[in-house]
Amino acid sequence: MSKSMPVTERDMLVIKLGGSILYNLSPQFFESLAEMAKEYNAVIVHGGGPEITNMLNRLGIETTFINGQRKTTEQVFEVAEMILKGKVNSYLTNRLNQHGLNAVGLCGYDANLLKASLIDEESLGLVGEIEEVKDDFLAGMISAGYLPVIAPLALTEEGTKVNINADLAAASIAKATGAGKLLYVTDVPGILQEGKMIPEATTEEIHQLIESGVISGGMIPKVRSALSVLSPSIKEVMIVGGQQAIFQSGSIQGTTIIDKGAVAAT
Ligand SMILES: Nc1ncnc2c1ncn2[C@@H]1O[C@H](COP(=O)(O)OP(=O)(O)OP(=O)(O)O)[C@@H](O)[C@H]1O
Ligand SMILES: [Mg+2]
Repeated sequence: MSKSMPVTERDMLVIKLGGSILYNLSPQFFESLAEMAKEYNAVIVHGGGPEITNMLNRLGIETTFINGQRKTTEQVFEVAEMILKGKVNSYLTNRLNQHGLNAVGLCGYDANLLKASLIDEESLGLVGEIEEVKDDFLAGMISAGYLPVIAPLALTEEGTKVNINADLAAASIAKATGAGKLLYVTDVPGILQEGKMIPEATTEEIHQLIESGVISGGMIPKVRSALSVLSPSIKEVMIVGGQQAIFQSGSIQGTTIIDKGAVAAT
């Protein structure tokens, strides 16, 4: 367990670190991530919503959310870019490196890593969805021994900079890199029902939990993107908590969402 597996034999793992937990990630979390990085080829994508909202409030700029996406005017984009790339990405990269993870901070414009298109400029402003991921660039970094840490910003074909929802960015990157696993690290230890963590849920059970109101708020877009990404190659998507060690005795702790195959992901 303590010896590293050769890079070429490892599975690809994409980890989304939620803005909800970024500044409260525990030392146990980082230590277990360092253990996990010996067994998987990892890529990290991070959010930063609460930090962006804080700065917008300090500057007296109003934000609105439309279906869970932040309406991104040019002024809001300027703040989102400053916070995601300048503050959150560098904070996280530095903490990862303090735990020996060889992290390199990137955003979607670096090396043209993420190409996107605008979703609906009129209603959402500068919010994009990912069209293309330069996965060979990520593969090159990983095989050279680095851990890519990506801020969810991208460029359109026309060269416009756009903001991408981090849950969706992680899902697109997982698809493009052929990741076997996708982890959403958040401020709860998994999907909770009556205060208890559910270790496993099928796509059908997830739909029921949404309908019955057990899953609400920020958990809805997260499980929706989880369902959209399940496929024969990405068999497992997990919701895990960043307050604790997420890797113990060789297994990842949290809720596993599995596709039973019979139910179409929506
Ligand atoms: N059934 C549920 N189980 C667990 N959490 C739930 C459930 N229903 C709703 N939630 C909420 O979902 C939240 C996690 O989603 P949220 O969007 O706030 O975090 P994040 O995605 O990690 O951060 P960010 O969106 O800033 O990147 C939890 O803190 C909790 O309040
Ligand atoms: Mg969220």
